[in-house]
Amino acid sequence: MHVVEVRPARPEDLPGVARVQVDTWRATYRGVVPEAFLEAMSYEERETRWARTLADPGWPGRLLVAEVEEVGVVGFAALGPDRNSGFPSYTGELWALYVLPAWQGQGVGRALFAETVRTLLAQGHGRMLVWVLKENPRGRGFYERLGGVLLGERELELSGSRLLAVAYGFDLGEGRW
Ligand code: ACO
Repeated sequence: MHVVEVRPARPEDLPGVARVQVDTWRATYRGVVPEAFLEAMSYEERETRWARTLADPGWPGRLLVAEVEEVGVVGFAALGPDRNSGFPSYTGELWALYVLPAWQGQGVGRALFAETVRTLLAQGHGRMLVWVLKENPRGRGFYERLGGVLLGERELELSGSRLLAVAYGFDLGEGRW
């Protein structure tokens, strides 16, 4: 039985965060997101980008990691204020949630989600939303299982390709997490 610790990211976690991001994107979005975009992703570039983001005093977000002893970072969540998505009562947003494929289905996503909710509640957000690609049944199933209510959909552009995303809303005061 592995013990998973969920906590705010530290600079030394960023190589692990980058690995989770690149490996999980490639495993999840192959055939959905343009192949050229997935191939162009790199650990170094993601690590540099996160380091810059965390060092920016104006960044309104938080980065959380899930760490397993003697394994390292197996998942992360990024969260912050909603980015003007058109649902004004949902003031908080879960920007990203990724768990390494080998660690999925073992409660890590739920633990990161619960800490995301606690963090947003502590910041005064009563509701949050999350955008997930319409063609991501794994992600959608997870958010539906956690009680997300379908709010709407919109088109995104990524690397010249048009993708549909759907939003799920959560009432954070419900206390189910
Ligand atoms: N359908 C139905 N239920 C599900 C699904 C699913 N597809 N996935 C998980 N669940 C349920 C589990 O059975 C569990 O239920 P229980 O606790 O009541 O028994 C609950 O949801 C929590 O499951 P976890 O094991 O904590 O989920 P996991 O660790 O796999 O994390 C996540 C979920 C984050 C979606 C992970 O699978 C992942 O990284 N997937 C690939 C990337 C992805 O799709 N990320 C979300 C993109 S959207 C964004 O980032 C904003």
